[in-house]
Amino acid sequence: MKTVNIAIDGPAGAGKSTIAKKVSAELGYIYVDTGAMYRAVALYLTEKGTAEEDIPAEVKGADVSLKFVDGVQRVYLGDRDVSELIRTPEISMAASKTSAVPAVRARLFDLQQKLAKENNVIMDGRDIGTVVLPHADVKIFLTASAEERASRRYKELSEKPGCPAYQEILDDIIKRDYQDMHRETAPLKQAEDAVLVDSTKLSLDEVVAEITRIIRERI
Ligand code: DC
Repeated sequence: MKTVNIAIDGPAGAGKSTIAKKVSAELGYIYVDTGAMYRAVALYLTEKGTAEEDIPAEVKGADVSLKFVDGVQRVYLGDRDVSELIRTPEISMAASKTSAVPAVRARLFDLQQKLAKENNVIMDGRDIGTVVLPHADVKIFLTASAEERASRRYKELSEKPGCPAYQEILDDIIKRDYQDMHRETAPLKQAEDAVLVDSTKLSLDEVVAEITRIIRERI
Protein backbone atom coordinates (compact mmCIF):
# COMPACT_ATOMS: atom_id res chain seq x y z
CA MET A 1 0.00 0.00 0.00
CA LYS A 2 1.30 3.44 -0.85
CA THR A 3 1.70 5.56 2.24
CA VAL A 4 1.09 9.31 2.45
CA ASN A 5 4.22 11.32 3.18
CA ILE A 6 4.17 14.94 4.27
CA ALA A 7 7.43 16.86 4.68
CA ILE A 8 7.72 19.94 6.87
CA ASP A 9 11.06 21.71 6.82
CA GLY A 10 12.21 24.99 8.26
CA PRO A 11 14.61 26.67 10.68
CA ALA A 12 14.88 26.05 14.42
CA GLY A 13 12.00 27.44 16.44
CA ALA A 14 9.55 28.00 13.56
CA GLY A 15 7.02 25.83 15.39
CA LYS A 16 7.38 22.75 13.16
CA SER A 17 7.05 20.18 15.90
CA THR A 18 4.11 21.81 17.74
CA ILE A 19 2.24 22.18 14.47
CA ALA A 20 3.19 18.79 13.02
CA LYS A 21 2.00 17.11 16.25
CA LYS A 22 -1.42 18.77 16.03
CA VAL A 23 -1.87 18.19 12.31
CA SER A 24 -0.77 14.55 12.51
CA ALA A 25 -3.21 13.89 15.36
CA GLU A 26 -5.96 15.41 13.22
CA LEU A 27 -5.08 13.26 10.21
CA GLY A 28 -4.24 10.09 12.17
CA TYR A 29 -0.67 9.98 10.83
CA ILE A 30 2.45 9.42 12.86
CA TYR A 31 4.63 12.43 13.49
CA VAL A 32 8.35 11.83 12.99
CA ASP A 33 10.64 14.45 14.50
CA THR A 34 13.96 13.89 12.71
CA GLY A 35 15.66 16.63 14.74
CA ALA A 36 15.29 14.34 17.77
CA MET A 37 17.28 11.67 15.92
CA TYR A 38 20.13 14.13 15.27
CA ARG A 39 19.95 15.21 18.88
CA ALA A 40 20.20 11.58 20.05
CA VAL A 41 23.33 11.08 17.94
CA ALA A 42 24.75 14.34 19.33
CA LEU A 43 24.07 13.10 22.88
CA TYR A 44 25.78 9.80 22.10
CA LEU A 45 28.88 11.55 20.72
CA THR A 46 28.93 14.11 23.55
CA GLU A 47 28.73 11.42 26.22
CA LYS A 48 31.57 9.53 24.57
CA GLY A 49 33.60 12.75 24.27
CA THR A 50 34.21 12.01 20.59
CA ALA A 51 36.66 14.30 18.78
CA GLU A 52 35.39 15.78 15.50
CA GLU A 53 37.70 13.68 13.33
CA ASP A 54 36.50 10.47 14.98
CA ILE A 55 32.78 11.11 14.40
CA PRO A 56 32.50 9.08 11.14
CA ALA A 57 33.89 5.96 12.87
CA GLU A 58 32.19 6.45 16.25
CA VAL A 59 28.72 7.22 14.88
CA LYS A 60 28.46 3.61 13.71
CA GLY A 61 27.92 2.63 17.34
CA ALA A 62 24.93 4.96 17.78
CA ASP A 63 21.84 2.76 17.94
CA VAL A 64 19.03 5.31 17.48
CA SER A 65 15.44 4.13 17.28
CA LEU A 66 11.97 5.58 17.70
CA LYS A 67 8.95 4.22 19.53
CA PHE A 68 5.46 5.63 19.39
CA VAL A 69 3.52 5.60 22.64
CA ASP A 70 -0.11 6.69 22.08
CA GLY A 71 1.07 8.32 18.87
CA VAL A 72 3.80 10.27 20.69
CA GLN A 73 7.39 9.76 19.58
CA ARG A 74 10.01 8.61 22.08
CA VAL A 75 13.68 8.48 21.08
CA TYR A 76 15.98 5.70 22.21
CA LEU A 77 19.73 5.21 22.28
CA GLY A 78 20.01 1.46 22.60
CA ASP A 79 17.35 0.67 25.22
CA ARG A 80 17.67 4.04 26.99
CA ASP A 81 14.85 6.55 26.49
CA VAL A 82 16.67 9.86 25.90
CA SER A 83 13.64 11.93 24.85
CA GLU A 84 14.14 14.49 27.63
CA LEU A 85 17.95 14.44 27.85
CA ILE A 86 18.30 15.68 24.24
CA ARG A 87 16.45 18.95 24.88
CA THR A 88 19.24 20.99 26.50
CA PRO A 89 20.84 24.05 24.79
CA GLU A 90 24.16 22.15 24.86
CA ILE A 91 22.72 19.29 22.83
CA SER A 92 20.92 21.74 20.48
CA MET A 93 24.24 23.29 19.55
CA ALA A 94 26.05 19.93 19.40
CA ALA A 95 23.31 18.52 17.11
CA SER A 96 23.62 21.50 14.78
CA LYS A 97 27.36 20.78 14.48
CA THR A 98 27.34 16.98 14.27
CA SER A 99 24.43 16.92 11.80
CA ALA A 100 26.75 18.54 9.25
CA VAL A 101 28.89 15.39 9.16
CA PRO A 102 27.88 13.23 6.14
CA ALA A 103 28.40 9.96 8.07
CA VAL A 104 25.89 11.13 10.69
CA ARG A 105 23.30 11.94 8.01
CA ALA A 106 23.89 8.60 6.27
CA ARG A 107 23.30 6.78 9.55
CA LEU A 108 19.81 8.31 9.94
CA PHE A 109 18.71 8.52 6.30
CA ASP A 110 17.69 4.84 5.92
CA LEU A 111 15.77 4.85 9.18
CA GLN A 112 13.82 7.94 8.10
CA GLN A 113 13.01 6.54 4.66
CA LYS A 114 11.89 3.23 6.16
CA LEU A 115 9.48 4.98 8.55
CA ALA A 116 7.95 6.89 5.63
CA LYS A 117 7.66 3.78 3.50
CA GLU A 118 5.82 1.85 6.19
CA ASN A 119 3.59 4.58 7.67
CA ASN A 120 1.54 7.63 6.78
CA VAL A 121 3.85 10.28 8.19
CA ILE A 122 4.32 13.92 8.81
CA MET A 123 8.08 14.20 9.02
CA ASP A 124 9.79 17.39 10.08
CA GLY A 125 13.40 18.44 9.74
CA ARG A 126 15.68 20.47 7.50
CA ASP A 127 16.17 18.26 4.42
CA ILE A 128 13.01 16.14 4.32
CA GLY A 129 11.51 17.70 1.17
CA THR A 130 14.88 18.09 -0.54
CA VAL A 131 16.76 14.88 0.31
CA VAL A 132 14.95 12.31 2.47
CA LEU A 133 11.51 12.34 0.82
CA PRO A 134 11.97 14.10 -2.53
CA HIS A 135 8.68 12.54 -3.71
CA ALA A 136 6.64 13.51 -0.66
CA ASP A 137 2.94 14.09 -1.42
CA VAL A 138 3.02 17.51 0.25
CA LYS A 139 6.00 19.68 1.14
CA ILE A 140 5.80 22.66 3.44
CA PHE A 141 8.54 25.11 4.33
CA LEU A 142 7.60 26.71 7.63
CA THR A 143 9.48 29.78 8.70
CA ALA A 144 9.26 32.90 10.87
CA SER A 145 11.63 35.80 11.51
CA ALA A 146 14.56 35.05 13.84
CA GLU A 147 13.28 37.71 16.29
CA GLU A 148 9.81 36.15 16.42
CA ARG A 149 11.26 32.67 16.92
CA ALA A 150 13.53 33.94 19.72
CA SER A 151 10.67 35.75 21.42
CA ARG A 152 8.45 32.62 21.32
CA ARG A 153 11.29 30.58 22.80
CA TYR A 154 11.91 33.24 25.45
CA LYS A 155 8.24 33.18 26.48
CA GLU A 156 8.34 29.39 26.73
CA LEU A 157 11.53 29.39 28.83
CA SER A 158 10.72 32.42 30.99
CA GLU A 159 8.39 30.27 33.08
CA LYS A 160 11.31 28.05 34.08
CA PRO A 161 14.26 28.86 36.39
CA GLY A 162 17.58 29.79 34.77
CA CYS A 163 16.01 31.26 31.65
CA PRO A 164 18.66 32.74 29.33
CA ALA A 165 18.36 36.39 28.25
CA TYR A 166 16.35 37.10 25.07
CA GLN A 167 19.51 38.26 23.27
CA GLU A 168 21.29 35.01 24.10
CA ILE A 169 18.39 32.99 22.65
CA LEU A 170 18.35 35.17 19.53
CA ASP A 171 22.13 34.83 19.03
CA ASP A 172 21.81 31.07 19.42
CA ILE A 173 19.03 30.89 16.80
CA ILE A 174 20.98 33.03 14.33
CA LYS A 175 24.07 30.87 14.81
CA ARG A 176 22.13 27.62 14.35
CA ASP A 177 20.35 28.98 11.24
CA TYR A 178 23.72 29.85 9.75
CA GLN A 179 25.19 26.43 10.51
CA ASP A 180 22.12 24.59 9.19
CA MET A 181 21.96 26.63 5.97
CA HIS A 182 25.64 26.71 5.12
CA ARG A 183 26.73 23.12 5.57
CA GLU A 184 27.74 21.21 2.46
CA THR A 185 25.57 18.14 2.97
CA ALA A 186 21.79 18.55 2.89
CA PRO A 187 21.67 22.21 3.95
CA LEU A 188 18.43 23.76 5.13
CA LYS A 189 16.64 25.18 2.10
CA GLN A 190 13.17 25.32 0.65
CA ALA A 191 12.45 22.56 -1.90
CA GLU A 192 11.35 24.01 -5.25
CA ASP A 193 7.95 22.37 -4.93
CA ALA A 194 7.40 23.24 -1.25
CA VAL A 195 4.67 25.64 -0.13
CA LEU A 196 6.08 28.48 1.96
CA VAL A 197 4.25 29.30 5.19
CA ASP A 198 5.55 32.30 7.15
CA SER A 199 4.20 32.12 10.69
CA THR A 200 5.69 35.42 11.93
CA LYS A 201 2.33 37.16 12.15
CA LEU A 202 0.11 34.11 12.64
CA SER A 203 -1.19 32.47 15.80
CA LEU A 204 -0.62 28.78 16.42
CA ASP A 205 -4.24 27.97 15.49
CA GLU A 206 -3.96 29.98 12.27
CA VAL A 207 -0.83 28.10 11.22
CA VAL A 208 -2.42 24.72 12.01
CA ALA A 209 -5.49 25.70 9.99
CA GLU A 210 -3.39 26.92 7.06
CA ILE A 211 -1.20 23.80 6.96
CA THR A 212 -4.19 21.47 7.31
CA ARG A 213 -5.84 23.31 4.41
CA ILE A 214 -2.73 22.96 2.23
CA ILE A 215 -2.49 19.25 3.01
CA ARG A 216 -6.19 18.50 2.44
CA GLU A 217 -6.08 20.33 -0.87
CA ARG A 218 -3.31 18.02 -2.10
CA ILE A 219 -4.15 14.56 -0.80
O1 DC B 1 14.75 20.51 14.81
P1 DC B 1 15.80 20.43 15.93
O2 DC B 1 16.20 21.77 16.47
O3 DC B 1 15.42 19.47 17.00
O4 DC B 1 17.09 19.83 15.19
C1 DC B 1 18.34 19.68 15.86
C2 DC B 1 19.47 19.86 14.86
O5 DC B 1 19.47 18.75 13.95
C3 DC B 1 19.38 21.11 14.00
O6 DC B 1 20.39 22.05 14.34
C4 DC B 1 19.63 20.66 12.59
C5 DC B 1 19.69 19.18 12.64
N1 DC B 1 18.72 18.55 11.74
C6 DC B 1 19.16 18.25 10.47
O7 DC B 1 20.28 18.57 10.12
N2 DC B 1 18.33 17.61 9.61
C7 DC B 1 17.08 17.27 9.97
N3 DC B 1 16.30 16.62 9.11
C8 DC B 1 16.62 17.59 11.28
C9 DC B 1 17.46 18.25 12.14
